[in-house]
Amino acid sequence: MFGTLLQDRFIVKSMDGAAGMMTLPDNSIKLVYGSPPYPNAERNYGIWKSKEYIKIISPFIDVAKIKLREDGFIVVNVKANREKHKGNKNTTRSLVIERLAIMMEEKWGLSCIDIEIWVKDNPVSTGLRVACQDAYEQNLWFSKSPSWKINLDAIRRPYSKATLKIYENNEFKPRTNGLMYVRKQKKITAHPLGALAQNVVKGHVSSRQEQHQAMQPGYLAQKYIKAVTNENDLIVDPWMGTGTTGVEAIKLGRCFVGFDIYKDYVEKAKLAMMKVLEGEKNDKKRK
Ligand SMILES: C[S@@+](CC[C@H](N)C(=O)[O-])C[C@H]1O[C@@H](n2cnc3c(N)ncnc32)[C@H](O)[C@@H]1O
Repeated sequence: MFGTLLQDRFIVKSMDGAAGMMTLPDNSIKLVYGSPPYPNAERNYGIWKSKEYIKIISPFIDVAKIKLREDGFIVVNVKANREKHKGNKNTTRSLVIERLAIMMEEKWGLSCIDIEIWVKDNPVSTGLRVACQDAYEQNLWFSKSPSWKINLDAIRRPYSKATLKIYENNEFKPRTNGLMYVRKQKKITAHPLGALAQNVVKGHVSSRQEQHQAMQPGYLAQKYIKAVTNENDLIVDPWMGTGTTGVEAIKLGRCFVGFDIYKDYVEKAKLAMMKVLEGEKNDKKRK
């Protein structure tokens, strides 16, 4: 299965994602990026209840740990839906994702880069009126190795006009309380590649939800692909859906392997990735 990957650029299969990852060579994956079914979310592809969540997701993390390269990373994009209770007990926010994050460190020995937050500009209304509107998701970002390194320059962002003005018009001074912001009085110059990325990702939810009930926007996967992988590195999404991760991986010259239990999604994913490759071929012909 793996032999022709560098040439074909992607392989997608309709099967359980943990079993699928198991077929790959050990220490071969640079990045596992994916968005599993969310705790308690009732979707047409099923429901992973929060009470069983850790049990269901554990085989995926077990295999990922074996198949990741020593310098590999895993990012799980997820958000638990609220727990419904009977009687006069109101709904509660499920903490199963926080539990999973702690287990990724304590049970699987992974190193937490960060738990990043994806803030949605246009969150979908849930109809729930007891707590504030749910408008974010978590990206659990872990490394296999404790001595990890990420390419911060690859994910820099434009400076705001206000920041550039502050840099231009001010000299920065050491703080008097000893917690030094700068060691000595100096002017700060803007980095030529842009400002440091933030651990908050902001943007719209996908406008292509008719294809899949939980289709992601491409910019999420793109950030982590740029930060931790290089050309031809292998990226795997064990819950591929319509192949958003694969499309971004291929656009950036990486190799991709994806799994989903539903054939329909795998077909959609395949078509989306073929389209990117076709576009690349046509661009080359035109040049
Ligand atoms: C949140 S969606 C992922 C959406 C995807 N990121 C996209 O942009 O289209 C979760 C996906 O996991 C798939 N899934 C559920 N159980 C699975 C399993 N055991 N192995 C592989 N995929 C599974 C579902 O069919 C669904 O497409």
